[in-house]
Amino acid sequence: MMKRPVVALLCLTGLIGLPFANAAGPEILAREKCGNCHGDEGVSRNDRVPSIAGFSAQTISGMLEAYASGDRRGVRHKPEGGEETDMGEVVKALTDEDKKALAGFFSQQKFRAHPQDANAALAAEGARIHEEKCEKCHSDGGTNANDDAAILGGQWRAYLGKGFKQLTTGERTMPEKMRKRFEKLSKDQKTQLIEYYVSGGGKR
Ligand code: HEC
Ligand code: HEC
Repeated sequence: MMKRPVVALLCLTGLIGLPFANAAGPEILAREKCGNCHGDEGVSRNDRVPSIAGFSAQTISGMLEAYASGDRRGVRHKPEGGEETDMGEVVKALTDEDKKALAGFFSQQKFRAHPQDANAALAAEGARIHEEKCEKCHSDGGTNANDDAAILGGQWRAYLGKGFKQLTTGERTMPEKMRKRFEKLSKDQKTQLIEYYVSGGGKR
């Protein structure tokens, strides 16, 4: 007598369960694979990890490819309560479909500038240098996602500092036209630019 309802129940869970098992929504994928470090919606709470919310899907895809090919070496990071790993290893565990879904998901989230104290005098100098040398590609003071480059305005100071260092030593590559300008910057000018971005860049 009990047989039928049990069978019916199994069929029902099968029907409901399948779509979830086959294709986890991108927000679930993002939370499981990236959220520990970047925040579930791509707004990072750790100053060593960049926020990626609101970057264009093309930018994110390009960055993931750079990690996958080894053009960009991931920095190892151990999130609170999670496993230490780096972007190279993270990307290896993703299918092409995952990467596309994640790039789409994070591009639709809202970038939030981190409220950080910035040195106003240095930031003002940085704004001047940015306008002259960087605004062409990092427009609206480094806050326009449509440039297909990382959002710089409102990014964490520690992460920006590390990025500038990697670009300076050549550990990270950059577009040729950027390199021509970047390599002429003095140490002080780099500090000023970082303060400008920390202050929010164009969204001050
Ligand atoms: C263990 C922590 C960790 C996890 C998990 C992780 N990331 Fe990262 N991610 C980082 C760190 C740290 C950086 C910056 C340093 C570097 O270049 O490796 C970074 C950098 C990035 C960048 C480059 C951002 C920029 O401004 O250049 C992108 C894009 C990115 N991650 C996307 C993702 C996606 C998508 C996932 C999930 C599939 C993910 N990350 C999972 C730690 C992590
Ligand atoms: C010709 C265009 C161009 C110019 C000029 C340019 N950039 Fe870039 N920049 C880019 C692109 C494109 C990227 C993304 C490269 C990547 O995905 O690795 C980038 C990436 C960066 C990054 C790394 C961000 C991250 O988190 O991944 C920093 C920092 C940066 N630029 C700073 C500057 C500064 C400072 C200047 C001015 C001195 C400048 N750029 C001028 C095009 C440019």
